[in-house]
Amino acid sequence: LFTGRLFRMISSGPCPFHCVCRNLSESLSTLCADKGLLFVPPHVDRRTVELRLADNFIMEVGGNDFVNMTGLVDLTLSRNTIHLIRPMAFADLESLRSLHLDGNRLTTLGPRDLAGLVNLQHLIVNNNQLVKVSTQAFDDFLLTLEDLDLSYNNLRRVPWESIQNMASLHTLNLDHNLIDHIAEGVFGELYKLARLDMTSNRLRTLPPDPLFTGAISPTPYNAVISLNFGGNPLHCNCELLWLRRLIRSDDMETCATPAHLAGRYFWSIPEEEFTCEPPLITRHTHKLWVLEGQRATLKCRAIGDPEPVVHWVSPDDRIIANSSRTSSFSNGTLDMLVTVARDDGAYTCIAINAAGEATATVDLKIIPLPHRGGAGGMKLFILSTDGQIAQGEDERGDR
Ligand SMILES: *[C@@H]1O[C@H](CO)[C@@H](O)[C@H](O)[C@H]1NC(C)=O
Ligand SMILES: *[C@@H]1O[C@H](CO)[C@@H](O)[C@H](O)[C@H]1NC(C)=O
Ligand SMILES: *[C@@H]1O[C@H](CO)[C@@H](O)[C@H](O)[C@H]1NC(C)=O
Ligand SMILES: *[C@@H]1O[C@H](CO)[C@@H](O)[C@H](O)[C@H]1NC(C)=O
Repeated sequence: LFTGRLFRMISSGPCPFHCVCRNLSESLSTLCADKGLLFVPPHVDRRTVELRLADNFIMEVGGNDFVNMTGLVDLTLSRNTIHLIRPMAFADLESLRSLHLDGNRLTTLGPRDLAGLVNLQHLIVNNNQLVKVSTQAFDDFLLTLEDLDLSYNNLRRVPWESIQNMASLHTLNLDHNLIDHIAEGVFGELYKLARLDMTSNRLRTLPPDPLFTGAISPTPYNAVISLNFGGNPLHCNCELLWLRRLIRSDDMETCATPAHLAGRYFWSIPEEEFTCEPPLITRHTHKLWVLEGQRATLKCRAIGDPEPVVHWVSPDDRIIANSSRTSSFSNGTLDMLVTVARDDGAYTCIAINAAGEATATVDLKIIPLPHRGGAGGMKLFILSTDGQIAQGEDERGDR
C-alpha cells in the first residue's frame, strides 16, 4: 500500500516478492536492494531497464539470472557476497551501460565473465579481493568503457595490454592494490583520460608517458589530467624528474628512497636532487682458465642508481643472449654450462643505466682437450688431477 502510493505498481508483469517494481516514463525499474536475498530472484520482468540488487547476500551470479534482459541498462550488485560470476553470466546484456560489482568477494575476473557487455561504459569492481584479471576480461567493451574502478583489491598486475586500448576511458581507479609495475607508454593513446588514481600501490618508479609529460597535453579533450601516485614507495632519482616537473595542484607524492629524501614531498625537493649515478663496475673476473667441456662462470658486479643492467659481449662482438648452453643474468653473471674451444677469447661486460654505462674485459682461456692422444694427454692429466687449477679464477676489485 505504501509503495503503491509512491510508484505505480505494474499489474501486467511479475514483480519478485518483496521487491518494488515501478514503470515510470515507460521504463521499468526493479528495486530489490536490501531485501535479504540469497540469489537473484527468478521472476524479474525481462523487460526491466534498471535492476537494483545491492546490499543482499547473493553469493553467485550466472545461469538464467540475467537471460533475455536485452534492454537492461543499469545493474547494481554492490555489497553482496558474490565470489563467483559464471562465464557468460551477462552475455545477453547488450544494452547494459553500468555494472556495479563493488563490495563483493570476487578473486578473479575470467576471460568470459564479462563477455557480451558490448555497450558497457561504467565498470565498478572496487573493494573485492581480486588477485587476477584475465587479459581478455574486458575485450567486449574496450572501446566503450569510460570508467573503470578496480581500487581496493589485491592486484599485483593489471591487463595493461587491454587498458591501453580503452579509447574512451575517462577515469581509471587502480588505487590501493599491490601493483609494482606500469608498462611504458600504456597511457599514450588514452586521449580522453582525465583522472588516473594509482595511490597506495607498490610502485618504485614510473616510466614517463607522453600523455603526462606534455607531448600531447593538453589533450583535445582535457586541459588537465588529474594524476595521483601518492602512497607508493617511490625511488626519487633522475628517472622520476618528469613527475617532479609536472605542475599539479594535488600532488601528494613522497619519496621512499634514497634515505636522505625519505618521507619528503616531491614539491619540497629541488629538481637537482633527483639524481642518478652512472654505473661503476666494482668487481669482475679478470682471467679465467677452464678445461674444454667444463662450466665457466664470468662475473661482473656493478653499482649505480638506478641499478645497472649488465650485458655481455662475446669475443666476436655479439651481445650474448640466453641459450641452452649460456645464461646471461642481469646481475652480471654469465654462466656457460659446457664450454667449447671456440669460446676462448676476450669478453666484455657492459653495465648500463639511465645515467650512462661502464665496461670491463674478461679473458676466458679454454684449455683444449686432446682429441687424439699425444702431448695434450699429458697436460690433461696434470690439470684434471687438480680441478681447482682448471677452474682457477682471478677476481679482483677494480680500483
Ligand atoms: C509501462 O507502462 C506503459 C504505459 O504507461 C506500458 O505501455 C508498458 O507496457 C509498461 N511496461 C511494462 C514493462 O509493464
Ligand atoms: C529467453 O528467450 C527465449 C526466446 O525468446 C525463450 O525461449 C526463453 O524461455 C527465455 N528465457 C527466459 C529465462 O526468459
Ligand atoms: C636469461 O634468463 C634469465 C632467467 O633464467 C633472466 O633472468 C635473464 O634476464 C635472461 N637474460 C637475457 C639476456 O635474456
Ligand atoms: C645472479 O643471479 C643468478 C640467478 O638468479 C644467481 O644464480 C647468481 O648467483 C647471481 N650472482 C650474483 C653475483 O649475485
